[in-house]
Amino acid sequence: MADDAAGTKLGDRMTTGFTIAIDGPAAAGKGTISKAVAAHYGFAHLDTGLLYRAVGARVLIGDDPIEAATTLQPTDLDRDDLRTAEVAQSASKVAVIAEVRAALVDFQRAFARRAGGAVLDGRDIGTVICPNAQVKLYVTASAEIRAKRRFLELTAKGQMTTIDEVLADVKARDDRDMNRAEAPLKPAKDALIIDTSDLSIEEALKVALDEIASQT
Ligand code: CDP
Repeated sequence: MADDAAGTKLGDRMTTGFTIAIDGPAAAGKGTISKAVAAHYGFAHLDTGLLYRAVGARVLIGDDPIEAATTLQPTDLDRDDLRTAEVAQSASKVAVIAEVRAALVDFQRAFARRAGGAVLDGRDIGTVICPNAQVKLYVTASAEIRAKRRFLELTAKGQMTTIDEVLADVKARDDRDMNRAEAPLKPAKDALIIDTSDLSIEEALKVALDEIASQT
């Protein structure tokens, strides 16, 4: 990458910070695309959903959500149960609370500004956290396809569930995430929308990398 034109220009801007914001609903492929984009450019990657999942997990063990968000520790992000469907639902419930979101803003913005470039994925990165990000992508897919992908992920990790249960979870979370008052999930006006319903990972990644190259 370093020796092509886009890479060189991107390299020049890395010292001043270069932010790629990737938003979208559950299991649309934004995590996979974000990791691959970050690896491609050597940027740092933050999965902001993990912050909300960590708060949600603390609430499941009895903590107050605002207290959990304001006292969140790096060790909270190391728990190995953060990827369960139960924690995902709890995350989307705490994510409607304005004070929870406010407590997580500074960390996310500081991460976005780091020298060397950053990719952040979540729900409100292009709209609220980094409205000035140089590149904004909104990765989506039909609810049925997303549920099928998430079902395969969860069962591969040994979690017991059914497609119908996962589809209901995905739809409940979409509804809560898109219709909340604080930072609802929606594409930023200047985001490129990538519908991955009929795309392979390689195809979706190519669309993302072409868009990034066109913005540098
Ligand atoms: O991996 P998946 O897309 O299923 O979910 P996630 O990115 O880990 O996010 C879990 C939940 O956290 C979402 O359903 C949102 O309610 C919330 N979230 C948010 O509100 N804002 C973000 N920037 C990231 C996640």
